[in-house]
Formats: sequence, structure tokens, C-alpha cells
Amino acid sequence: MTAPPKLRLRTNAKINLFLRIASLRTDGYHELESVFHGISLFDSLEVELTDEPGLDVAFDAGPNYGTVLPTTDENSLTQTFGVLRDMGLEVEGARAVVFKSIPVGSGLGGGSANAAGLILGLNEMMDWGMSRGDLHDIAERVGSDVPYFISGGTMLALSRGEELQRLPMLKGMTFVLGMSHRPLLTRDVYAAFDELKPEVAPNSAPLIHALGAGDVVEVASLLYNDLERAALVLRPELGAAKAAMVEAGALGSGVSGSGPTVFGIAADRSSAASIAARIEDAFDRVEVVETAEACVEIVEGTQPSGL
Ligand code: C5P
Repeated sequence: MTAPPKLRLRTNAKINLFLRIASLRTDGYHELESVFHGISLFDSLEVELTDEPGLDVAFDAGPNYGTVLPTTDENSLTQTFGVLRDMGLEVEGARAVVFKSIPVGSGLGGGSANAAGLILGLNEMMDWGMSRGDLHDIAERVGSDVPYFISGGTMLALSRGEELQRLPMLKGMTFVLGMSHRPLLTRDVYAAFDELKPEVAPNSAPLIHALGAGDVVEVASLLYNDLERAALVLRPELGAAKAAMVEAGALGSGVSGSGPTVFGIAADRSSAASIAARIEDAFDRVEVVETAEACVEIVEGTQPSGL
């Protein structure tokens, strides 16, 4: 085996610039139309091959993280390892250490990004030589958002989130994230959504047009998320937090995914810094981030071939 015994990866978060729920499916999932956009908030993931059977997982974080860590028995990495084993992709043993910065249950997709990192990392280390299609199939079994994180960038996601079409990416966008130290469970937010009265939602075509035209102001005016109403039922204070982002100077603001993270689009970096300073008291944690072109980046070891 020519594979490196250890890899260090960076797995970036996402925000949803648009999320419309079309219907509740018979399998319990929701039919979506969503625009995912990669951002530079990241977890560090270290993967090492070992002789000990199974996957050994550890999570750690700096003082800024401020919220709970995933548990070592129920997390997206353990789940991914199980999916790989069920598919006959045997790994004798591995150790994964995650240094978290993306909060658990924040609507930023941190767990799904970690899962995509483990799939890409093991593909490299084990010399499986899988195509993008193969990687996508594995990712889809782990979770609805995981296929997006195999690719990253700006994507239109359909079906339950796994059907992807690449969209034009606005590379220089700057965002202010307003985060909470209290996680929200994705399935609880979807369940709250099912209790709400249906509302007429826009479609993503105008936003996609604005992305193609490179018009950040227009993009900011077209942010939409059906789950926001559901997140507001569970966290009423999010309404004021979202308004605070715009009052502080954001071109537009929205809730990411199932929340509770609120993001604002800033005109530039200096505007982002001033927004961040003004909204400090409205959130548990505030970060300024930029567009990330890929989700999973290998920072030490060999680069993924042909991806
Ligand atoms: O696919 P994943 O396990 O990440 O989804 C987590 C939960 O989010 C699901 O159990 C479901 O409640 C909800 N979900 C949904 N429709 C989607 C994606 C997720 O209802 N398209």
C-alpha cells in the first residue's frame, strides 16, 4: 500500500442562501430546493490508519467553541465508518481526531463536512481510487447533506439534498456569522415545520440569476429559508437577532439550514468587521468568514487525485 498512514484535513462549513421545502415525502424526508454555499469556518480532521479494529474517535475544541462536542459513540464519523463497512470497504482500524470550530447543531453542516472528510481521506489513504460518483453514493447513505460536502462550492441541491447541480460561485463574498451555544436538532426543526400552515414560497431562479450576474446586493435581497419560520417557533429570539444583523449594516441576513446560526452578507471585509463588533451582544459567538471554494481540503499528506 502506497497510501500515507496519516492525513490532516480541513472540512469547511456551509450556509444555505436559499431553502424551499416542496413537500413531505412518504419516507419522512422533505423534498427540497436549496442553494448551498461553502464558507471558510472549518474543523480540523486528522485521520490515521491503525492496527486496532474499528474507528477510534476523539473530539476537542478551543475556548471560543463554547458549546457541546459530539459524543464519541454517536457521531457522523462513526456512522460513516459503519456505512463503509456495510458496503464492503474494509478498513482494519483507524483513528479520527477532530478539532471542532463549527458548532454542533448549528445549521452549518459541521458533522456532514466531517463525514465527507473521512470518506475522502480514507479513499486516499486506502488507495480505493473511487470516482466522484462512487464517493457521492457513499456520502448519500451517511446523510442528506454529505454529498454536497464531497464537492463544496455553490450548488443547487434537490430531492432530499443529494441531487446536485453546480452554480456560479461568488468567490469574494464576506459573511458575518451569529452563532448560538444552544444546538438545534435538524429533525426537530423539520418536525416543527410540518406543524406550520403552508406558505407560498419563491423559487430559486432569481437568486441563481443574481449569482450568475455576480450581483452580491441582489443575492442578499433574495435570501430565503422555509425552515426559518420553524426555527423561530423553537427559538423566538432569532427574529430580533436576524434584524440586528441588518441594522448593523448587513446587505441581507438569513438563518442557515435548520438554524440557529444567523448569517449576514457584508459589502466587504471592513464592513464585516464593523457589523461583527455591533452584533456582539446579540449572539453567543460571532465570526467573519469568506467563501470557500472546496469543502474538504487536505492540508498535510497527498492531495486527492482527480477530484
Ligand atoms: O439525512 P440526515 O440524516 O442528515 O437528516 C437528518 C434529519 O433531517 C432527518 O432525520 C429528517 O428529520 C430531516 N430531513 C428531512 N428532509 C431532508 C433532509 C433532512 O426531513 N431533505
